[in-house]
Amino acid sequence: MSSIFSRDYAAELPVLAHGSGVYIHDADGKAYLDGMGSAGVVGIGHGRTEIYRALAEAGNTVTFAYTATFSHPWQEKLASSILSVAPEEMKAVYFVSGGSEANETALKLARQYHLDRGEPQRHKIISRWQSYHGVTIATLSLSGRTSWRTPYTPYLLPVIHIAPPYEYRCAYCRDNGGCTLDCADELERAINLEGPETVAAFFAETIVGTTASGLVPHKDYYKRVREICDRYGVLFVADEVLAGYGRTGKPFAISDWGVAPDMITCGKAIGSGYAPLGAVLVNDRITEFFREGRRRFVHGFTFSGHPASCFIGQQVFDIMSREGLFTRPAEIGQYLATRLRQLQQRHACIGDVRGKGLYAGVEFVANRATREPFPTEKAFTSRLVTMMRERGVIVGGGVPGANFGMGGDHIQITPPYIVTEEEIDIIVDTLDEVITALT
Ligand SMILES: Cc1ncc(COP(=O)(O)O)c(C=O)c1O
Repeated sequence: MSSIFSRDYAAELPVLAHGSGVYIHDADGKAYLDGMGSAGVVGIGHGRTEIYRALAEAGNTVTFAYTATFSHPWQEKLASSILSVAPEEMKAVYFVSGGSEANETALKLARQYHLDRGEPQRHKIISRWQSYHGVTIATLSLSGRTSWRTPYTPYLLPVIHIAPPYEYRCAYCRDNGGCTLDCADELERAINLEGPETVAAFFAETIVGTTASGLVPHKDYYKRVREICDRYGVLFVADEVLAGYGRTGKPFAISDWGVAPDMITCGKAIGSGYAPLGAVLVNDRITEFFREGRRRFVHGFTFSGHPASCFIGQQVFDIMSREGLFTRPAEIGQYLATRLRQLQQRHACIGDVRGKGLYAGVEFVANRATREPFPTEKAFTSRLVTMMRERGVIVGGGVPGANFGMGGDHIQITPPYIVTEEEIDIIVDTLDEVITALT
């Protein structure tokens, strides 16, 4: 019997033996094509043992530093590397161990920024429904993922949620021939209803992840968001824990909208699964305020800026730079999108294919004309994911409830950035077979 307190005692999980490229091999010798990049984490591919060899060679220069007492070269180096590919407004990096910690940190930094600037009344946070920002109480409060919030409702903070940019099901535009940006304008209405002088920040996943798989907002959406935030002195935090670091074919996804947020949070691909690592990129305005005022940010985890994680993050950065992986997903992602659109023509149950780069979402419906979802009891997504896994392909099952809490089936396909056309064919052909069996 396992000594691990299971994440899910209903699930029988295979035991991983080793990884190689886009494949994971279990202890029984079965190979799985990792079409979800292990939750959108693995960019450079599995089994890159050169990373750990480099760590061993660095010897005791990678010594644990408690970063309230010592800085160390590995975090300095990695911060410079990340900033070299980030929007130019980003001026400093605060390292943490994952995405939830990154968003928790950004939330607290936004609060302290306003407080220290003499606006103590600014404490409210606005985010969106059908979103995910983490599992800690504060980041779950930010998250608009109903099924994960429900058990913890009594503990959640009163974060205000507005409509997501979900064109396929949007109450404003689904019958209007395309996005009208009303969903962005809802931010302005929410700020005014709450009292603009009380609002601290707006948090948004640049592209929505597993809560609604691959929602890409209109090309002017973030420009409108930026204008609204600026008008009312509200900070804009782009959560790129999943969308960032090459996933869409840009180092940071927000670049495609031509605006700079006040903070960008990241995780997942920056360590590519080789170490737990997350980061908050902070813009010039906030950084200079703290730097010039010689202010102390009242925050910090024991493992903030962990030397081994930062060292490994630098190896990941070097591999990504050397192999062109910050941009490769743009090109290979076109092939994935084309193949998924072809599949949509073959299966009436595929209502929507969306995403950017190697960040694809597929939404399934019972009726394509009315967009009516499958009944929840059909458990379409979980059956599909299980059948895919039986056939040796892993895709990410979208969290139920994308249809405004009333069902909604979708999957996320986020393979490592090194995936080839042949491997994409395997993913899509297996999906074809499974959908045929299910419908
Ligand atoms: C967009 C987004 N933000 C935050 C998180 C939380 O990151 P972590 O699980 O590393 O705490 C996730 C994880 O899936 C995510 O997708």
